[in-house]
Amino acid sequence: MPDVDSSGEVKNFYLDIPTQTTGQFYLKGSGALDWGMQNRLSRVFRPATGRTVMLAIDHGYFQGPTTGLERVDVNILPLVPYADALMCTRGILRSTVPSSSATPVVLRASGGPSILKELSHEEIAIDIDDALRLNVCALAVQVFIGGEFETQTVHNMTRLVDLGLRYGMPVMAVTAVGKEMARDARYLRMACRICAELGAQFVKTYYVAEGFETVTASCPVPIVMAGGKKLPELDALTMAYRAMQEGAAGVDMGRNIFQSDSPISMIQAVSKVVHESMKPTEAYDLYKTS
Ligand code: R5P
Repeated sequence: MPDVDSSGEVKNFYLDIPTQTTGQFYLKGSGALDWGMQNRLSRVFRPATGRTVMLAIDHGYFQGPTTGLERVDVNILPLVPYADALMCTRGILRSTVPSSSATPVVLRASGGPSILKELSHEEIAIDIDDALRLNVCALAVQVFIGGEFETQTVHNMTRLVDLGLRYGMPVMAVTAVGKEMARDARYLRMACRICAELGAQFVKTYYVAEGFETVTASCPVPIVMAGGKKLPELDALTMAYRAMQEGAAGVDMGRNIFQSDSPISMIQAVSKVVHESMKPTEAYDLYKTS
């Protein structure tokens, strides 16, 4: 039995200080989310900048051992501490990533077809219980607007959003652009807005040189820029810089980091661009000298 509190006379209720309220949450469109969901988002998006550098290494879920990901233990684990979040599958997480890792995880939650088949024919590929068991900070689901199985992939997302709301787990919608689709601002505006309207807490989409600011402006939740195919480092840094200037809340880059000649230098340079708005040429100098 605890001791009786005998210090009652010296309690201080600070009656002259108004009780502090928790205030506005710092991420766009996220103010009405529950505490657990905001807490998970705070692990993915740095509270100091409201931005994130996610390292995407989930490519194996549909295309097997992608160049640079043949040995995640050798090539990727040294990069993980430099990322704000790691986007991966549960298979790689359990088999290869140490459970002592401090980097939050955004877990690939959809899948099904390989690159040999119709990619939009995805289904939900994980139980929410397993995501909670793995202590991840968000789920990632592919949405193929305009794709053959568009409705099915939208339903995958809305089902995960429902489960995520039940347990405080944010969902990141990934706008997948089919081969036959024009990757322009008009398409991306529509795809991102559909994902946000139907409940995604944040959206991953591609950068476009013309009108990207209209994609971010018309999406009521944060957008992270997808990396896409490998570019020369200065070009990739320039793309990331422009996306940030045009309203992105971060990047989720894979091949442009792990296929770089110097992946650790590259992720550090990307981080400077994202969190410190470093100019691309300066970040490229850093990349070359570090
Ligand atoms: C895209 O559909 C998947 O999420 C990828 O496996 C991955 O995230 C793409 O990353 P990146 O295009 O930057 O290599």
